[in-house]
Order: sequence, then structure tokens, then C-alpha cells
Amino acid sequence: MIEHIASNLPKDFPWTTHIHHFDIIDSTNTKAKELGAKGAPHGTVLIADQQTGGRGRLGRSFHSPPGSGIYLSVILRPQCHASELMHLTCATGTAMCDAVEAACGIRPGIKWTNDLVLEKKKLGGILTELSLNSTGNVNFAVVGIGINCTQQPSDFPEDIRAIATSLKMAAAIPIDRSRVIGAMLVSLEKMSQILFTQKAQIMAQYRSDCITVGQEISVIAGENVRYGTALSVDEEGALVVQFSDGHTEAVSSGEVSIRGMYGYL
Ligand code: BTN
Repeated sequence: MIEHIASNLPKDFPWTTHIHHFDIIDSTNTKAKELGAKGAPHGTVLIADQQTGGRGRLGRSFHSPPGSGIYLSVILRPQCHASELMHLTCATGTAMCDAVEAACGIRPGIKWTNDLVLEKKKLGGILTELSLNSTGNVNFAVVGIGINCTQQPSDFPEDIRAIATSLKMAAAIPIDRSRVIGAMLVSLEKMSQILFTQKAQIMAQYRSDCITVGQEISVIAGENVRYGTALSVDEEGALVVQFSDGHTEAVSSGEVSIRGMYGYL
């Protein structure tokens, strides 16, 4: 498996020697946090064929059946304070749009903040997690990405079937998972290089990829639901919302989830 992936990477790709593959694992993010705490270097990559405890944002699970999706986490070691890394999920989102476009010829959109979307359905998601020291500086970041690749509608559990899609369903071409993984790693490595030096360009691309901007949405924080219009995404990745009482507020992804007024989007 690692050989297949390596054959889809440039010869001098700096992360090739740090790729770990697992047939089955609870969560590549959980394992990456374990390895990160033991000192695993920047660019350590974990890829699994199946996850038994795939995790999403806000404590949700991520359905990760064998052989049909990509479940991948990378350890990054940016030298910065946590407050300088608020845009990491957005940067990963646009990097994954680049990767899917390069490998499959179709560019997903992004439902703020971390869902990859094709044909108004969820293609995948991103879960970023940080390890910080006592002053809030970053020890390491784990960027985890799940992408549905070869599923057919009947492969998805009933509760998500209506809102889930895969590359195979949307692109209607044969999908080579190793090729997609190769494109993802190339995009992630590039993203890690330009994360701070090209932040404005990254965020401009994110706004262009983000299908939530311009939509009427509900903003959900626990039991509290508020209605408004998504106006933009700010430089730190917060969603700027004009609420129905007229006031405007930047809502952060750590605090809320959003829904379209009429369904998933
Ligand atoms: C979401 O939908 O909210 C994010 C889903 C992120 C899933 C990926 S799969 C690889 C990595 N390992 C995990 O447990 N989660 C992420």
C-alpha cells in the first residue's frame, strides 16, 4: 500500500519516509496525537483502510468502512501560538479541494467550516486538533481528513444516505485511492509551506470555495438556534453572519454548527 502511495508522489517528496499505513485503527487522529506526543516529526502521515472510531467535529462520529474511503492524518509542527493557527482548517479545506480537482477533475465546495461537498452532499470532512504548551504555543497540530471514495448510495448508513456522496458517485470515473492520497499529500505539504506567508491568498480561495457564503442559515449552539445570512468568512476562518435582528457577528467554528434553512446545506 505504501509503495502504491509512494508511486503517486514526487521522487523527492519530503514526507514519503514518514508514512504509516494501518489496515484497521480506531482513529488516525487519535493515533497521530499519540505519536505527536512521543515526538514524531513534522510530516508524519497516518493512513487507514478502516476506522472503528472515526471522529468528526463537535464530538460527531465519521463513518469509516473498510476499503472505500480515505482516512488520513498528518502531524504538523508549525512554530507559532495557537491564536495564529485559527485558519488551519480553512487552509486544509482549500488544499483538499485542490487535491480532488488534481486527481479527479472536479472541484468540491466547502460547507463552512470543514465539510467537503459535491452536488450538495457531504463528500468528506476535516478534523484539526492542536497540542499546546502551557503558554498556548503549538507543540504540534494534527490535521485529519476523511474522503468518501468508492461508496455507492446503499453503502452509506440510512441516516446519512440522503446527504452523503463519494468521488465515484459524483465524478463518474474510476477512482484510484492511491492517486487521490498522493494528490492530498502533495497539497498538504504545499499548504504547510505557505500557511503563514500566503495567508491572504489562502483565505481568498477559501471564500471562493465556501458555498455557505450568501446562504440563509441557522446557527446552532447547543439548544440555542439563531437565524441569519452568511456574509463572509474573516481572516481567522470565523463565519460573519448577519442575524435576523440586523446585527452582525463573527461566529467561530469551535462554538457553533450551522445548517441551511432547508436541509444539510
Ligand atoms: C467531520 O466530518 O466533522 C470531520 C471528519 C474527519 C474525519 C477524519 S478521517 C481521518 C481522521 N481521523 C478521524 O478520526 N477523523 C479524521
